[in-house]
Amino acid sequence: MLEISHLHKTYRNAAEPSLSGLSLSFGKNIIAGLLGPNGAGKTTTISIICGLVKADSGSVKVLGYDLATGLEEIKKLIGVVPQSIALYPTLTAVENLEYIGKLYGIGSRELKEKIRLYLHAFGLEKSAHKAIRHYSGGMKRRANIIASLLHAPELLILDEPTAGVDVQSRNMILAFLQDYHRQGHSIIYTSHLLEEAQQLCHEVAIIDHGQLVVKGKPSNLMTENSATSLEQVFLHLTGYSLRD
Ligand SMILES: Nc1ncnc2c1ncn2[C@@H]1O[C@H](COP(=O)(O)OP(=O)(O)OP(=O)(O)O)[C@@H](O)[C@H]1O
Ligand SMILES: [Mg+2]
Repeated sequence: MLEISHLHKTYRNAAEPSLSGLSLSFGKNIIAGLLGPNGAGKTTTISIICGLVKADSGSVKVLGYDLATGLEEIKKLIGVVPQSIALYPTLTAVENLEYIGKLYGIGSRELKEKIRLYLHAFGLEKSAHKAIRHYSGGMKRRANIIASLLHAPELLILDEPTAGVDVQSRNMILAFLQDYHRQGHSIIYTSHLLEEAQQLCHEVAIIDHGQLVVKGKPSNLMTENSATSLEQVFLHLTGYSLRD
């Protein structure tokens, strides 16, 4: 579902590159984890994949389409849940979702039904007509995910979907991701919760300083590194020093 080759990116006025020749690939129909310490380059990579940030060099293929020539096709096939909440705070959940669904050209009857079903599935039906700014952190995260699902993307990319949410919201979100995968979709997600990634992901890539450190099945990585958890593998390979 994803092939990244020799990706380089230095932001304007930045002293250091954010991506320094990142190469990695993930197969189709899996839940893949993109892991790494703060500043490793996860969000930059996701921003490049969805066309928000332009790489300096390197190539990206998403679901068989080359980013350089097929961005419009790619945009139709992927859904991206950004790290920061991308909803209008003064609009209600329904108003936000209707607006986003219309941008995707979804017919109004189908859209209304989808929004109703997803708000129910994500436990937000009672707050459907409440402004987003009055939502709790967990509710905002759940609404943010629905916004990326309305066009039924083949590949769902989520940047820290479980950051700052309570155990109940997190369990709900993870159960949904597993269900979405079972329906035949591919998922790439980032998280700092390595126990969560270990349970959820079929494959993980650990990146640091804009480069791939290691990629593989969590169980294989644990065996290869004589570790009993993915967190041990992560610390062993990325070290203990702070990144900021
Ligand atoms: N718009 C920007 N301008 C300049 N530097 C940036 C910009 N966005 C990110 N960076 C820098 O690029 C590097 C990678 O950042 P990125 O946000 O991709 O990391 P990340 O792995 O997503 O980190 P986190 O886990 O904290 O979300 C960091 O050093 C960051 O400071
Ligand atoms: Mg990030």
